[in-house]
Amino acid sequence: METWFKKHYAERVFAGELVGKNPGTEVFLCGWAFRFRDQGGVIFIDLRDRSGMIQIVARKEIIGDKFSLAEAVRSEYVLAIRGKLQNRDAEAINPKIPTGTLEVIIDDMEILNTSKTPPFQLDEFDESGEDIRLKYRYLEFRKEDLKNRIFTRHNFLHSIRNYLHGEGFLEIETPILNKSTPEGARDFLVPSRLNPGSFYALPQSPQIFKQILMVGGMERYFQIVKCFRDEDLRADRQPEFTQLDMEFSYVDQEDILREIEKLISHSFQETFGLKVQIPFPRISYKEAIESYGSDKPDLRFGMKLHDLSDLVGDCNFQVFTGALKNKGVVKAICVPGGSVISRKEIEELTNWLNKDYRSKGLAYMKHGADGLESTITKFFTPETLKKISERLASKEGDMVFFGADLPHIVNPSLGALRLRLSQRFETPPQDSYHFSWVVAFPMFEKDPANGEIYAIHHPFTAPEDGVISQESTREELIQKVENLNSKAYDLVLNGNEIGGGSIRIHEKQIQEKVFELLGIGKEEAEEKFGFLLEALQYGAPPHGGIAFGIDRILMLMTGGKSIRDVIAFPKTQKGVCMMSDCPTPVENSQLEDLKIRTVGL
Ligand code: AMO
Ligand code: AMP
Repeated sequence: METWFKKHYAERVFAGELVGKNPGTEVFLCGWAFRFRDQGGVIFIDLRDRSGMIQIVARKEIIGDKFSLAEAVRSEYVLAIRGKLQNRDAEAINPKIPTGTLEVIIDDMEILNTSKTPPFQLDEFDESGEDIRLKYRYLEFRKEDLKNRIFTRHNFLHSIRNYLHGEGFLEIETPILNKSTPEGARDFLVPSRLNPGSFYALPQSPQIFKQILMVGGMERYFQIVKCFRDEDLRADRQPEFTQLDMEFSYVDQEDILREIEKLISHSFQETFGLKVQIPFPRISYKEAIESYGSDKPDLRFGMKLHDLSDLVGDCNFQVFTGALKNKGVVKAICVPGGSVISRKEIEELTNWLNKDYRSKGLAYMKHGADGLESTITKFFTPETLKKISERLASKEGDMVFFGADLPHIVNPSLGALRLRLSQRFETPPQDSYHFSWVVAFPMFEKDPANGEIYAIHHPFTAPEDGVISQESTREELIQKVENLNSKAYDLVLNGNEIGGGSIRIHEKQIQEKVFELLGIGKEEAEEKFGFLLEALQYGAPPHGGIAFGIDRILMLMTGGKSIRDVIAFPKTQKGVCMMSDCPTPVENSQLEDLKIRTVGL
C-alpha cells in the first residue's frame, strides 16, 4: 500500500537547500524536531536534517486535525511534512541560520518516530564531556561540529580519489588478515580457528603488499586504508587510523616529493579552500634536530636552538664545562619578551623537563638594560656574555634558557621548551599552515641505553646512493651506523608529522645486509619477510612511496583537538569504544574453538 510518506518522498528536498527558492514553492521535508514553541493555535518547529535547518509552522486553521500531531512533537522526534515555503515577517527573521528569512507553512505532516530526551543538548551551547558524546555518537552526528567534520572528511577523501584516478593511480585493496609488518608498534593479533596456535596480525600498514604490487607491475598504487597499531594512545594516535597509502615505480625521491606537492596543493585547495605554496621548503633531519630539537619542527616561528659549546668552554660554570667534558653540548634558546617568566614558573618548567625529558636543570639569564643578567653571569666574562647575546640575537626584555648535557637530552628538552613557550610568546597567527619536508634521515638509530640498532623509518628504506654496496661488510657498516643516511622523507604540517615515506631497497642483497645490521638473522628474515625477499629477485623495479595520516591532517585543518574529533567512531585513550563497550570478554566456547585459554587475569 502506498503511504502518504512514500507517495511524497520522491519530492523530498533538504532544508539547507531552500535558500534562494521561490516563496510559494511546495516542499516535502524530513528531519528531526530541534526546537519547538507552542504559541496556542500556532506551533513553530525548527526542523533539522543533514543539510541544515528551517522553521516549519503548524497552524490549526490550516492543518485541522493534524494539529494534535504538531502539539505532540518533542525534541528529536522524526517528522515528515509537506508545506508551502514563504518569507518570514521582517521581525521574525533569524540571521543565525542560512534559511533564517524563510519558513514553511505545514499543509500535512506525520510523526515517523518519537525520541527519548537526548542526554545532552544538540546545539552549540552543549558543554557535555567527551565520554557521553562518544557513548551517544549518533546524537553527536546531528550536531554541527561533528557533522561538518565528517562532511569535510568525505570531501577530502573524494578530492584525493578523484585526483589520483586522474593521475593514473590504481586503487587496490590489501589484506586485513595479515602477517606482521614492521612499522615498529605492537601488532593486534587475530587467532586462526582453522590453524590453532597461529595468528594473523592486523596490518600496521600495507607496506610489504604495496611493494609487492610494484614487483607485479602495477606502477602507481594508492589506497585509503585502515592501519592498526597497538601503541600508547595520545591526542594524535588511535589504535586504528586511516592512511592515504601510495607507491610508485621508476621514481626517485625528487619525483615523489614533487608529485605529492601537487596532490596536496590540489586537494587542500579543493577541500579547505587553502592556497598552498609549492614546492615545500626542505630541512634535513640533522638541522631539524639541532635547530629545533624535533624531527617534526614547527617552522611557523623562530626561537631556534643555538649551540654555544664553542663560546663557554673556558667559563667557570661547572654545569657547562662538566657537560662539555662529558662529550655533551651547551645550547640555548632566546624567548622574545620572556623576561616576564617568574622564578616559580621557571621552577615548574625545570621540573617538567626533568621529569619528561631527563634534563638535569634549566639555567637562564634575563636580558636587562645592561645585557644578560642572572645569578650565574658571574661565571662568565663580559665578552662571553656579549657573544652569547649576539649569537642568540637577544634584546632587552628577552629570556635565555640553557641546556647542558648529551645532545640526545639537550635537543629534545629545549625543543619541547621552545614549543611550550611559543604558545605564549611566539604564537603563530591563526589559520597559518606551514608545510615542510624533513629529508636526509639517518637509516639507523642506536639506543643509547643498550646499543641496539633500530631502523628510523622501516627496514625496507633505501640508503642514500653509494652508502651501502654489495661489497659492504657488516663490520664496516656498524662502524658508521649512525652516519648512514637514507632516502626517507616526512611531511610536516605545523609541527605535526602528517606523512612519511621512502625510496625502497629493490635489491635482495642490500635488503639482506640491512636486516643483518638490524640484528634480523637470515632465518628470521626468511620466516618474516621471505616472500618479499623472494619477490625482489623477480625483476623488482626501483620504487618508493609514502603514507599520510588522514586523521591528523583533518584534525589540523578542522581545528580539532584530537583525531577523535574527525573519526566517525573513535576509541578512547584506553582503546575502548564508548558506544559498543568493546573490547569485551568472549564466550568460553569461542575461546575453546580457538584453543585459547586466558591466564593471570
Ligand atoms: P608511518 O609509520 O610514518 O609510515 O605512518 C604514516 C603516517 O600515518 C600517521 N600515523 C598515525 N595516525 C594516527 N594514529 C596512529 N597511531 C598513527 N601512526 C601513524 C602519521 C604518519 O606520518 N608504511 C609507511 C609509509 C611508507 O613508507 O610508505 C608508514 O606507515 O601521520
Ligand atoms: P646548580 O649549580 O645545580 O644549582 O645549577 C645552577 C643553575 O644551572 C640552575 O638554574 C640549574 O637549573 C641549572 N642547571 C643545572 N644543570 C643543568 C644542565 N644540565 N643544563 C642546564 N642547566 C642546568
